[in-house]
Amino acid sequence: MTASIIDGKAVAARLRASLAERVAHLPFRPGLRVVRVGDDPASGVYVRNKDRAAAAAGFDSATLQLPADTDEDTLVDLVAELNTDPVVDGILVQLPLPPQIRQDAVIAAIDPAKDVDGFHPLNAGRLAMGAPLHRPALVPCTPKGVMHLLREAGARLPGARAVVLGRSQIVGRPMLQLLLAADCSVTVLHSRSRDLAAECRRAEILVAAVGRPELVRGDWIGEGAVVIDVGINRLPEGRLVGDVAFAEARERAAAITPVPGGVGPMTIACLLENTLEAALARRGAAG
Ligand code: GUN
Repeated sequence: MTASIIDGKAVAARLRASLAERVAHLPFRPGLRVVRVGDDPASGVYVRNKDRAAAAAGFDSATLQLPADTDEDTLVDLVAELNTDPVVDGILVQLPLPPQIRQDAVIAAIDPAKDVDGFHPLNAGRLAMGAPLHRPALVPCTPKGVMHLLREAGARLPGARAVVLGRSQIVGRPMLQLLLAADCSVTVLHSRSRDLAAECRRAEILVAAVGRPELVRGDWIGEGAVVIDVGINRLPEGRLVGDVAFAEARERAAAITPVPGGVGPMTIACLLENTLEAALARRGAAG
């Protein structure tokens, strides 16, 4: 079997176009503020791409750049200002933060209604509860993008054996919750798990999010599996690869995402989707 390629770039472009169309009909522009502390070059590329995509889709987006030696109180004060600013619908504090700032303290300071990363404990808790008490949670962007891609790939989710490789706060844990909410039977594997290859081979849906270049070999893939590769790893020679050995996996999977051009472009599109959802919920407008 040679897998079909799940074209995340094209899916993301369609999602951004449909968001732009919805935004064009609103009486206001959804407002997004990205806060960046210091100038880590990798996150610089992310932030510029976010700004460009947001502007192209008609959002009111800006990046607030703070110096690398900013202290925690200053950042929390800025977040508090953004929380009360009526034109701001979404706040994203770019991670990682410098060591003098506690990430958890900053995330907890964000108004959950503006937490477009979905990292606030209230949003993570709502997602984990499955049935939202009052309104749906804002869901972390990368796992949300993975769910879009699975649907685009035509994966049958109810009852499917899904394996998530990785248990991070940003991807693995929310991925577990989203797959469970879609009625998959989910196994989460991590650095202490035994028999990774055998566990992966049982997966009908495999989501790899460990940040280890080409850890998942072709013989870890069950025939006909749908494989979503969240990893973006730069090899010493400069090439970008995922967590899955793509060429090998392609011989066994039914569908697979490439790196780059798979999950990556979906993250920004889902950030815009979350910002629009937050704007509509906050402003009491209908979708
Ligand atoms: N750094 C890498 N990925 C992310 C993300 O999804 N959100 C934030 N805030 N920072 C990141």
